[in-house]
Amino acid sequence: MGNLHTSYHTRLTSAFAAGGGQGGVRAGRMRQVAEVRTAHTADLDAGILKAARALLDDVFAGDMTDHDWEHALGGVHALAWEGAELVGHAAVVQRRLLHGGRALRTGYVEGVGVRADRRRRGHGTAMMDALERVVRGAYELGALGATDEAAHFYAARGWRLWQGPSSALTPTGVTRTQEEDGCIYVLPMAVPLDLSGELTCDWRDGDLW
Ligand SMILES: CC(C)(COP(=O)(O)OP(=O)(O)OC[C@H]1O[C@@H](n2cnc3c(N)ncnc32)[C@H](O)[C@@H]1OP(=O)(O)O)[C@@H](O)C(=O)NCCC(=O)NCCS
Repeated sequence: MGNLHTSYHTRLTSAFAAGGGQGGVRAGRMRQVAEVRTAHTADLDAGILKAARALLDDVFAGDMTDHDWEHALGGVHALAWEGAELVGHAAVVQRRLLHGGRALRTGYVEGVGVRADRRRRGHGTAMMDALERVVRGAYELGALGATDEAAHFYAARGWRLWQGPSSALTPTGVTRTQEEDGCIYVLPMAVPLDLSGELTCDWRDGDLW
């Protein structure tokens, strides 16, 4: 990867080959090291960004649009690696969400996916650990639009389903986005939230949430 501004959160999963003996761990017996690295978009080279996009194209089976990918750029990425193989991607970008009369500085999570054959190994957890650290340290609120499949995954991590009406601040004013109701999750922090109140996102091309 070779980027200067990259932080490493290293974790070992089923890392050691069977039969390590009583002599403890030896590097030569390590079968696989899994790790999550975080980096700003600016510090990822084109090859890694291309691999991340390809991974998400695969994960979302062709439903990943150029807009969806663009929504994941400009913030901090968490990349899960098994050795030299990229097996997971997630990102957090800044958006403004309007709630309770405030424009909350929000860490919005985008592009979360783990290769189908590498799921349930903790990669999603490790990526979200890294991004939630960013959210808690830099923003007033975390938010994301969840797939049905991932709803339990986020809820188990403390993300709360938004119960109230969702809307977007469009060039022609605030517009309801009722098709998104029931899919939006927030990570509450210090700012008081009324989960049954209105939540309005800022404008962008493509899917608004
Ligand atoms: C959601 C996703 C990123 C999770 O990645 P992962 O690497 O499998 O997650 P983890 O291994 O860290 O799972 C952690 C826990 O989340 C829960 N979980 C994860 N996937 C789950 C599923 N499909 N059903 C129910 N619970 C699930 C489990 O409690 C799991 O713990 P366990 O394996 O000990 O039971 C992955 O399933 C994925 O890429 N899905 C397709 C794309 C998608 O929907 N992305 C979300 C966009 S909002």
